[in-house]
Amino acid sequence: MANKIIAGNWKMNLSAKEAMDLIKGISQQEIPSDVKVMVFPSALYTGLAATFAEGIEIGVQNFSENDNGAYTGEISIAQTKSVGATIGLIGHSERRAYYKEDHATLKAKVDKAISENFDFIFCCGEPLFIREEGSELQFVQQQLDDSLFHLSAEQMMNKIIAYEPVWAIGTGKTATSEQAEDMHRNIRLWIAEKYNEQVAKSVSILYGGSCKPSNAKEIFAGPNVDGGLIGGASLNVEDFTALTHSF
Ligand code: 13P
Repeated sequence: MANKIIAGNWKMNLSAKEAMDLIKGISQQEIPSDVKVMVFPSALYTGLAATFAEGIEIGVQNFSENDNGAYTGEISIAQTKSVGATIGLIGHSERRAYYKEDHATLKAKVDKAISENFDFIFCCGEPLFIREEGSELQFVQQQLDDSLFHLSAEQMMNKIIAYEPVWAIGTGKTATSEQAEDMHRNIRLWIAEKYNEQVAKSVSILYGGSCKPSNAKEIFAGPNVDGGLIGGASLNVEDFTALTHSF
């Protein structure tokens, strides 16, 4: 069974104090017991956040596909685990666009995470021009084929995918609930075709892109929408907590 998940991607925001206040604030809230909550602070704060978090998984926004070694500025899975991270994002559109992470790099990160038994959220989503030309399904399927669908059925069980249309990220422009559900239904269908029904049902598919308390209920009502990967609205306790109550 897919999990209900609310994940906060804090991106490159907040001072250490602000981040700790936020994590403490969220930890004090009442969160429905069937909703998994995870936050992805700046990697600088991983250890601190893990210390203060109660009932919240702490993740990293990015990690290296390499083992420890001479990779200046990079962070290994072993390092993130040693300070309490249990999960990492792979292939966020900002990493793809600004840091030129290509399909091969993302595939290598997927493989490294699998070999280190490290959970991940694999992000996919089309830019505006692809949506406008109507080829978003082919585009997202290709992203999954290129970097994720090489996994075995056993490895794909219980994985997490986030569909984040690039044109909806940080723009205030949300996908309609129909657009989100349509993509999510197709993603689950592709998993069922490539693997089987059992694997397809076990994968959690999150929506991301200007998701906030005012639109979340409608989006999460889609039968194939298992939760959200939240940017802006994850930066304050009230909005983020409200999202966990939006199923
Ligand atoms: P916003 O919620 O700010 O649009 O960001 C979404 C996102 O990129 C989460 O990873």
